[in-house]
Amino acid sequence: MNRILVTGGAGFIGSNFVRLVLAEQQDCFIVNVDKLTYAGNLENLEGFLDNKNHIFVKADICDGKTIEQLIDKYQIETIINFAAESHVDRSIQEPKVFIETNVTGTLTLLEAARDKKIARFIQISTDEVYGELGPTGKFTEQTPLSPNSPYSASKTAADLLVKAFGHTWGLQFNITRCSNNYGPYQFPEKMIPLMINNALNDKPLPVYGDGLNVRDWIHVEDHCRAIWKVLTDAKPGEIFNIGSSNEKTNLEVVKTILDAVGKPHSLITFVKDRPGHDRRYAIDSTKINTQLGWKAETNFQEGIKRTIEWYLQNKKWLAGVTSGQYQKYYQQMYSNR
Ligand code: NAD
Ligand code: DAU
Repeated sequence: MNRILVTGGAGFIGSNFVRLVLAEQQDCFIVNVDKLTYAGNLENLEGFLDNKNHIFVKADICDGKTIEQLIDKYQIETIINFAAESHVDRSIQEPKVFIETNVTGTLTLLEAARDKKIARFIQISTDEVYGELGPTGKFTEQTPLSPNSPYSASKTAADLLVKAFGHTWGLQFNITRCSNNYGPYQFPEKMIPLMINNALNDKPLPVYGDGLNVRDWIHVEDHCRAIWKVLTDAKPGEIFNIGSSNEKTNLEVVKTILDAVGKPHSLITFVKDRPGHDRRYAIDSTKINTQLGWKAETNFQEGIKRTIEWYLQNKKWLAGVTSGQYQKYYQQMYSNR
């Protein structure tokens, strides 16, 4: 039995990961630790909350005592750290909590992993640690770290701490750096679900700047399968980029969404740019392709179609996460833009 402590498992990628593992692996027990911030949602655990191989614990990754107790109680062998403050725009508004969770939280987990002799620590990082690209080239694992936002700076600090624990105390770790994810259960502060939600409600679609920033989109299920591959097959100490070679400008993505839901392009509204907005990301996944034999399986046209269908079929979920606090956030972020 592989006994895994997953953090942030009530968020977008974490919940997709737990769902996939419980569905496909019979010999895994998952302790799912999540603070349930605005981005964490027990509804994301629909279908597996009561699975006998899964237990949910509401806790903060900065609470080392609780983390150590959970490791002992459930004889944890592996930690996979998804928990984070994950939205770039929020990090520009209020960076402090990004340092608390992404840096201090990761440090707390690392100390627990070292002291409890955890067999493997997997840090879910991001391609944003590399900064931005010009019109050509891709990020490889050798690209120098050069983060530009408070979010990416905090994720970079976490990566460096993970490496330092490996170097200093021999902690067995891996780091994964993935590009932009899309798919079910993504909180609609991120571009794709935000645009889907606005389109469904005939609201303007707020495109930052000239709309020509490029992101390299990967379906969340492909990302989750890559993480599983790293967990089972990678040598300790290795870092892997994960991507799907799906570069799109934001305008292309927004037009695809409008066409798919049958709404006019006139809903597109250009708004003031994000400060320090990275122009382009693109991931070179050669290392994970060749060393671990992983390859993304979902092409963007098929993946975005399935994703839009999911949001159409889950309007109740969407209505739930866009009520209350979200309305305040949206006003604050977009009303005078
Ligand atoms: P998310 O915001 O949807 O989920 C984050 C989860 O972490 C939430 O459930 C939240 O409640 C939980 N959390 C936050 N602070 C916590 C704390 N102090 N203690 C315990 N739990 C806490 O984020 P996501 O998009 O699912 O991203 C997951 C991870 O993947 C993050 O580390 C992010 O940096 C990384 N990542 C995301 C993307 C992407 O496109 N979304 C791409 C590459 C890497
Ligand atoms: O690259 C991986 C990263 O991708 C992850 O590490 C982050 O956690 C994740 O949030 C994501 O960061 P981005 O900033 O690229 O994602 P976001 O969905 O916020 O924005 C995608 C692009 O769309 C970006 O160029 C900004 C633009 N955008 C975004 C929003 C929310 C808009 O034009 N309008 C919007 O309203």
